[in-house]
Amino acid sequence: MILQQALKQSHEYARRIVQPGDTVVDATMGNGHDTAFLASLTGREGKVYAFDIQKEAIENTKKRLLNEGLSETCILIQDGHEKLGQYVHEPVKLVLFNLGYRPGGDHTLCTLGETTLQAVQAAFAKLTVCGMIILVIYHGGDSGFEERDYLLERLPQFDPQFAAVMVTQFVNLPNHPPILVCIEKLK
Ligand SMILES: C[S@@+](CC[C@H](N)C(=O)[O-])C[C@H]1O[C@@H](n2cnc3c(N)ncnc32)[C@H](O)[C@@H]1O
Repeated sequence: MILQQALKQSHEYARRIVQPGDTVVDATMGNGHDTAFLASLTGREGKVYAFDIQKEAIENTKKRLLNEGLSETCILIQDGHEKLGQYVHEPVKLVLFNLGYRPGGDHTLCTLGETTLQAVQAAFAKLTVCGMIILVIYHGGDSGFEERDYLLERLPQFDPQFAAVMVTQFVNLPNHPPILVCIEKLK
């Protein structure tokens, strides 16, 4: 199959955008797979800010980064991504959101449309021109549809002078495959 699912596509875009030395954000650390992936792209000269509200996310990610020799590159923040502006004070090239709940964790501690949108707006303010915000939206099952609907209703309101917003989804596959949203800063 040539068409790829949302998470793989998100990594593909990240590989094309992020250069060694860049600063990027993992807005939803979870178990740290994406944090480690992003740190492998920025290299030791770069920086990855990673957010999660759960202590377990910080612990699991810390272990993963230590094992992979990537811990020096990453700043792990136990706080909501909607407060990104309080922690990130420099321009960033990419902000990645992998929405929903932490695999293996409490499914009620999931991302929510309102705070995710606040975080997207805070992230956009820090983004470099040609930088990108990528969201992988899980929906259906325990994730429900509220966050998806909240975001897909509001993201088209981004001013097209400043942002290109693209939504990619499989429309005929079963089990609600995740949706990919890319927001590129134009100026
Ligand atoms: C699908 S998981 C992320 C998976 C992760 N990227 C990985 O590689 O394992 C979503 C994460 O978002 C976190 N989360 C929920 N609300 C949040 C918020 N307001 N700010 C930051 N993280 C949040 C959850 O605790 C959960 O760990």
